Amino acid sequence: MAKKKAEGYLSARESRRISRENRKITNAYEKQRKRKNVPENEYLTTMRDPNNAVEFDNLHTYFFTDAGTVKAVDGVSFEVPIGKTVGVVGESGCGKSVTSLSLMQLLQRPQGQVVDGAIRLNLGDKAYDVTRTPNEVLQKLRGHYVSMIFQEPMTALNPVFRIGDQINEVIELHDGEGQSAEDIKKRTIGLLEMVGIANSEGVYSMFPHELSGGMRQRVVIAMALACNPKVIIADEPTTALDVTIQAQILDLLRQLKNRINSSIMFITHDLGVIAEMADYVVVMYAGRVVERGTAADIFHHPAHPYTIGLMASKPVVGKKIDKLYSIPGKVPNPINMPNYCYFKDRCEMCVDGCDGEYPCMISLSETHQVSCYRYYDGKEEK
Ligand SMILES: Nc1ncnc2c1ncn2[C@@H]1O[C@H](COP(=O)(O)OP(=O)(O)OP(=O)(O)O)[C@@H](O)[C@H]1O
Ligand SMILES: [Mg+2]
Repeated sequence: MAKKKAEGYLSARESRRISRENRKITNAYEKQRKRKNVPENEYLTTMRDPNNAVEFDNLHTYFFTDAGTVKAVDGVSFEVPIGKTVGVVGESGCGKSVTSLSLMQLLQRPQGQVVDGAIRLNLGDKAYDVTRTPNEVLQKLRGHYVSMIFQEPMTALNPVFRIGDQINEVIELHDGEGQSAEDIKKRTIGLLEMVGIANSEGVYSMFPHELSGGMRQRVVIAMALACNPKVIIADEPTTALDVTIQAQILDLLRQLKNRINSSIMFITHDLGVIAEMADYVVVMYAGRVVERGTAADIFHHPAHPYTIGLMASKPVVGKKIDKLYSIPGKVPNPINMPNYCYFKDRCEMCVDGCDGEYPCMISLSETHQVSCYRYYDGKEEK
């Protein structure tokens, strides 16, 4: 008698078949990407609103793995206005990092691919769709226009090079034309001081393993800010830091934002940080945006049951409770998503329509949108 196979079990044969198919798909994407001399009109685009620095438009980023296709980001749309901070929140694994890596075009290739949608980046005089922009052009945009503070500082730093050399290299590559080695060194030391490293001369010639976790994090921030980028992606930049340093780093980001009017996409689990930093908030769940609005919309009038749960699970100063609320259940398997609302199985506020297909975005006000059947009321706007 054949043994009962566990759910999600894949035979070696099945896995080989998937892997062969994946190769076909990813090879096609890679071939497209590796073309030389791509004409500019293929990746030039126009912003929907010239006041936006970045526009994510129906972004789909998939990972073609041997176990199946992981739909890490599955139709994400939101914008980052110039000079504003957008906070992105959501449960671990909901696609926050993959969304930002798609903007940087630093996905793990060949399995990670943007399969649909656009990411428009505003350079002032023109706009690029980074999902179609060839690598040689992107290289010039990264660091200069967009830069990223990575979630894990140890993987962002090279363990065999000294700190100073690693930051110098960033400046030389992106902004160093006509500058002498001394000038660049001076600028690097200045950056280390700016992020609050006391012994900046000493740290300049240290290796990453000689620094504490918080110092490494600050070095990574110095590197990201080295060329005064227009868009800064901060992926959990303060999670490894204690509260006082965290406050300093947040201040630093705010100052920089005001000084050069850059925009920040701030990814965090910490709703307190969001409340302090963000002008707008995007709530993601299982690869999709479930709610977006101004910080006041989200904090004072959370609409999606997931957001309401998030708000209820954060501690409030001065309010004594025995146990914090936790959202029951877990996120669905990203390889096999249901065809109804992804949050339905965990939702405690379901209504009649919830058995239907995935709910589309409904506008609650000019700034506030939510994808939930509770707000349909017969109207089906987008
Ligand atoms: N290289 C990869 N190969 C396959 N799947 C991946 C890869 N990178 C990410 N994923 C999948 O994409 C999904 C989204 O991951 P992502 O890193 O964006 O989560 P996140 O929201 O940043 O979570 P966290 O808050 O824990 O950092 C996850 O299901 C993850 O397993
Ligand atoms: Mg992440």
